[in-house]
Amino acid sequence: MPAGGGGTTAAMTGRLPRARGTLSAALLAALRRPDDLDPLLGVPADDDEDEQLALWVLHALHYRGFDGVDDALEWSPPLLALRRRLEAALELRLRERFPGHRPEGDVGEALFEYVAAFEGPALSPYVQSRADEEQVLELLRHRSLYHLQEFDPTAWVIPRLPTRPKAALLELAFDEYGVGDPNRLHSHLFARGMASAGLDPAPGAYVDDAPLEILEQNNAMTLLGLHRRLRGAVVGHLAAFEATSSLPSRRIAVGLERLGFDDALVDYYAEHVVADAVHDQLACRGICGALVAEEPELLEDVFLGAFTCLDLEARYAGRMLDRWEPAREVSA
Ligand SMILES: [Fe+2]
Ligand SMILES: [Fe+2]
Repeated sequence: MPAGGGGTTAAMTGRLPRARGTLSAALLAALRRPDDLDPLLGVPADDDEDEQLALWVLHALHYRGFDGVDDALEWSPPLLALRRRLEAALELRLRERFPGHRPEGDVGEALFEYVAAFEGPALSPYVQSRADEEQVLELLRHRSLYHLQEFDPTAWVIPRLPTRPKAALLELAFDEYGVGDPNRLHSHLFARGMASAGLDPAPGAYVDDAPLEILEQNNAMTLLGLHRRLRGAVVGHLAAFEATSSLPSRRIAVGLERLGFDDALVDYYAEHVVADAVHDQLACRGICGALVAEEPELLEDVFLGAFTCLDLEARYAGRMLDRWEPAREVSA
């Protein structure tokens, strides 16, 4: 498939996914025929996947919505109540996993140290030297849930920040959104890369392929973004994300070139090698450091966000590596 030229990605709305259990089935049915949404609140989820898919669908109403689903349902009280039930459970789980961290001294420096000290499985070394084409395509399908709306979950935080961190966040966001050029939006670069690899860049095209860990990653970002009280965690998550992007992006670009993928796809990762070498400084010092200087009570939430980013990525990497190379040694 050709890489495509200018313009934006085609469809604005997404396709509804397939249900994964009782709750997601009831929700999807209700979105198609929303005559009585109240009973949804009492429907239990079968398991984590069913629950996280339902939350992902509810969150999607706040982004692009779905083909054939009434836009007004974004603010339906019963759906908002269900969203809060599922978000409360997810937030509790994220907080239980976080061991806590309240460093003294420079926040930016402490964030760099925290990220460097984190230990967990990583996918980029595998992609660089060992992944085959099918494995890379699977990775792209999973990553597409986020990369096709890159930075959007973080953008919710903009009006919730004081002056200095807001200015720094907007400097970073301007890059993510293409510096005024629709062809350079990171989400659009990824869409072009997907098309060049023969994948469908339509929003939500591969939600059915996403494992639990990918749904959790995306849901966590939107959960943080949609709640003003969690603004510290939003910027902490961003800092960890940016600080773990440049080198892995280089490794992935090398792996894609090794496998003969099109330049349009390599371009997306090459862009992040350069951009995120600057974004990590901006995020850790200019955004997180500046926010905690003005609102010191947010310090621990900044690290909750950073931990959540690192932990959820490690969980995803662990799942994929367990499948791709089951004989590997399990890291700590
Ligand atoms: Fe980006
Ligand atoms: Fe970035």
